[in-house]
Amino acid sequence: MDSPGHDHRHGHGHGPEHGHGHAHDHVPHGHDADGLAELLELDASVFGTLLDQAVAVAVAHAPRPTRTVVDLGAGTGTGTRALARAFPDAEVVAVDADAGMLERLRSGLAGTGLENRVRTVEADLDAGWPDVGTADVVWASASLHHVADPARVLRDAHDALVPGGLLVVVEMTATTPVLPDDVAHPELAAHLERALGQAGWNRYPDWSPYVTDAGLDLVERREPSAVVPPGPDVTRWAHATTSRQREHLADHLDPDDLAALDATAPTGRVDTNDPADPAPTHTVGARGGRIVWAARRPR
Ligand SMILES: C[S@@+](CC[C@H](N)C(=O)[O-])C[C@H]1O[C@@H](n2cnc3c(N)ncnc32)[C@H](O)[C@@H]1O
Repeated sequence: MDSPGHDHRHGHGHGPEHGHGHAHDHVPHGHDADGLAELLELDASVFGTLLDQAVAVAVAHAPRPTRTVVDLGAGTGTGTRALARAFPDAEVVAVDADAGMLERLRSGLAGTGLENRVRTVEADLDAGWPDVGTADVVWASASLHHVADPARVLRDAHDALVPGGLLVVVEMTATTPVLPDDVAHPELAAHLERALGQAGWNRYPDWSPYVTDAGLDLVERREPSAVVPPGPDVTRWAHATTSRQREHLADHLDPDDLAALDATAPTGRVDTNDPADPAPTHTVGARGGRIVWAARRPR
């Protein structure tokens, strides 16, 4: 299905997904999994300020002391690491159905000093709530829209939270490259938005009524956004994003749009460490956003 089956919701938004917002294709394999993992890391690096803002919401509302944080659909662990840093007394339990993602997550911890406070649990949320014990904070970033029955997962999250415990759901919005004027035609951003919508890219509803239905009190809903100027990381990010969009959205874009996208990723200008390319030019910026919902289990 394209979006969770519930009346008053419609999907929107997009991000470093593996192509579609379908609930049952959540475990990408091989090349696609590598691409998704790379993009998740690049996205967190380029849009670090957005991750910081989402984590700040969690810190602002989390119960004290915060001993256990559960990261649902943790992926490569960008959120896991940020949460472990933000909650220095907590154990962070990273849950994911994809063993390869959890392997990457564990390697990404090496040398961070966080290794002893992060535990990984391989579990499919569609099969039931994982055995993670009680939680002070449950965090789900770009993952809730992947599960088959998000209402059930949210009810289970409610039950797993201590009274006063906090659920934070994060989704990505409007992640597009900002192309130089001589490359982009004025409608490209709008066309990309439309194509992403048509392709069902990262589709999700407004989670507000879902969290309320699960018995949680919504305490904050925030929509941070950022425009990041050109630079080496943004060039890598744009290359990964546009090649993915190019691959998945070709049927939904005009030839002009495709030509503009192609012009953002000139091969040989992406690897800034390549001595054969002494003067890489970074001309592409990045625009991104998040929606953050924070909801508390009543005491
Ligand atoms: C788009 S990634 C987001 C990763 C990470 N939270 C982030 O923000 O960078 C979605 C993750 O959810 C995981 N996932 C999807 N469906 C799942 C399910 N039913 N049970 C457990 N994990 C799932 C995927 O394997 C993937 O790692």
